[in-house]
Amino acid sequence: MANHFFRDFIRKPLGRNENMGNDAAKIRSLFKQTYGDVEGIVIGRAPGRVNLIGEHTDYNDGFVFPMAIDFQMMMAARPRFDDLVRIYSADYNHQIEFSLDKPIQFDSGNPWSNYPRGVFSVLQNAGIALRGADMAFTGNVPQGAGLSSSAALEVVTAIVLQKLNGFVKTAPELALLCQQAENKFVGMNCGIMDQFISMMGCQNHALFLDCRSLQYQQIPLELGDNRIIICQSGVKHNLVESEYNKRRQECEQGVAILSKHHPEIKALRDATLTQLDAFKQEMDEVVYKRCRHVISENNRVLESIKVLQQGDLDSFGNLMNASHDSLRNLYEVSCPEIDLLVDLARKVPGVIGSRITGGGFGGCTVNLVNSSAVTEFSKEVTDIYRQTTGIEAKMYISTAAAGANIVE
Ligand code: GLA
Repeated sequence: MANHFFRDFIRKPLGRNENMGNDAAKIRSLFKQTYGDVEGIVIGRAPGRVNLIGEHTDYNDGFVFPMAIDFQMMMAARPRFDDLVRIYSADYNHQIEFSLDKPIQFDSGNPWSNYPRGVFSVLQNAGIALRGADMAFTGNVPQGAGLSSSAALEVVTAIVLQKLNGFVKTAPELALLCQQAENKFVGMNCGIMDQFISMMGCQNHALFLDCRSLQYQQIPLELGDNRIIICQSGVKHNLVESEYNKRRQECEQGVAILSKHHPEIKALRDATLTQLDAFKQEMDEVVYKRCRHVISENNRVLESIKVLQQGDLDSFGNLMNASHDSLRNLYEVSCPEIDLLVDLARKVPGVIGSRITGGGFGGCTVNLVNSSAVTEFSKEVTDIYRQTTGIEAKMYISTAAAGANIVE
């Protein structure tokens, strides 16, 4: 998303997002420019996320461990007295409109608009009466980087609409509706992780989520002298959606075979590696590999929570590394650029763990790095990455941010 926050981020690659305090003022002035005045507006924010471990487990009823990051979507909105909805995207410098008295249509000409459109649509389908609204938003979550800018846009739309219309839904219920917007309206068959963490994130904590029961625990991120560094590869391969949906189907094929023998296996979450190995012969090799990743990744998440609670960061780093290797070799959702970033990172002394994060096929790596090694890490990795690929990788130190809220 081309906006001035993002340019700042490129200029100051290892900084934090220093614009947080100005974001409300910025969105207020954007709203004023677009709609004339700011009388009666509501302002909301929702963050992007980085997943520390637990990849491609959410849609297998498994465990994830993401944290919200300090890059976010901000939205200002005001109710109208008719059915018209106008939404202005500052980052695309474009406004769309639709009416709530007709079925809301998918807009292939303005893909960004389908996230808020989808949220309107699922809320209406859930029987919630919505008023028309004038809305404007902007964001600094890098787009297409696997940091959940779309979930952040869905979530900020949902909380702002809740405030404008006064309906009663809990935060997890709203997260589920946002996931539905993405599944049913946008057409991306994602799991619940991104919307849930954007909604429920907690400062200085990562969220341990059971994606079946939606029970969760906020785990304090006590990293001592270490930092979480997100490294953006600058690549996004077009495979994300088709390969993502294919992976889901392969997991379902695995479950179909396992459940014939063990009817209690309803999802890969319920299977053990021993059970999987017992029926390996009945499975296509690819299906076996996918299942092996998911089952072992769930185990790694559980193990991560345990070692982090013991303050054993080295073991957590090893689990991050093992997660990447499994995503690369078994789940096959990495790509050469990301593998290069991970390999380069692991060569730097003081790097405790490095892995791909998010859906895959590009995007970002997440790295646990001793603070004494941050400068060398940043230089070594970006220099060799640039020499090899011609791409400027972007990095920033990330702290765990709070989940979505109404700012005013
Ligand atoms: C994307 C999806 C999530 C999750 C991850 C992989 O980010 O939106 O639901 O499946 O990929 O862990």
